[in-house]
Amino acid sequence: MPEARGKVALVTGGSRRIGAAISRALAKAGYTVVLTYRTSSREGRSLAARIGGSAVPLDLSRPSTFDRFAARMGRESGRLDLLVHNAGVFPRTPIDAATPAAWDAVFAVNLRGPFLLTRALLPLLRESPGGAGVLFLGDACAGELWPGYLPYCLSKLAVERLAEGLRKTLSPGVRVGVVRPAFALPPDRFPEERWERLRAKKRRGRGIGTPEGVARAVLRFARARQYNS
Ligand SMILES: NC(=O)c1ccc[n+]([C@@H]2O[C@H](COP(=O)([O-])OP(=O)(O)OC[C@H]3O[C@@H](n4cnc5c(N)ncnc54)[C@H](OP(=O)(O)O)[C@@H]3O)[C@@H](O)[C@H]2O)c1
Repeated sequence: MPEARGKVALVTGGSRRIGAAISRALAKAGYTVVLTYRTSSREGRSLAARIGGSAVPLDLSRPSTFDRFAARMGRESGRLDLLVHNAGVFPRTPIDAATPAAWDAVFAVNLRGPFLLTRALLPLLRESPGGAGVLFLGDACAGELWPGYLPYCLSKLAVERLAEGLRKTLSPGVRVGVVRPAFALPPDRFPEERWERLRAKKRRGRGIGTPEGVARAVLRFARARQYNS
């Protein structure tokens, strides 16, 4: 029998790309997966149908909707054992383009949203019979502070500290971890050759380099009693 039968996992942005690999792996391990989408409703619903889960809209930049979202989770799923903060944005933002709105757009989705969503879901997470887990997707290369992507890099560095802070705040009842991909999948329409050049130059063996590798790391976290990311 799959190890996680009866447990519920929530994967933000779980319709496509790395999120879809995570959703599939968790379903295969026995989780009932609730995946969220913002724009990819067709992909989300289709994947949810294939893995026996459900797809729910969620916009991380709109925290006023989180309590309603949490109530829906409670009503429809009844429990929450694993929260995977996969959704994120990765806009090119060279300094001249880093307006207040552009800055806020990155931090709203990559940092504020995951924090406030965790907060809204805490009552459900705390009720998980075996102890729940909250997992963030960081970026193994964020410390390189790429000039074209400074707000993104800073948001991912802040995610590391957020996870640390939540680990202190929520332990021992709720485990908190970080998984760090590194050049795992090029952004849509990113020139392939350029991606491979960057990947070869910058990755230097750090981080997790494929969507399936990221999904395996998520499963390791889900299975671990203790998790030192
Ligand atoms: N790709 C890599 O090589 C790489 C490397 C290092 C770290 N990471 C991190 O790993 C995670 C997954 O990477 P990825 O490349 O698969 O991500 P992605 O395709 O850029 O984004 C994942 C999902 O985030 C959702 N999203 C965007 N804005 C949102 C919002 N306002 N509210 C809710 N959801 C929103 C989108 O959902 P919809 O499609 O439904 O709009 C999207 O499918 C991200 O956190 C990323 O930063 C990725």
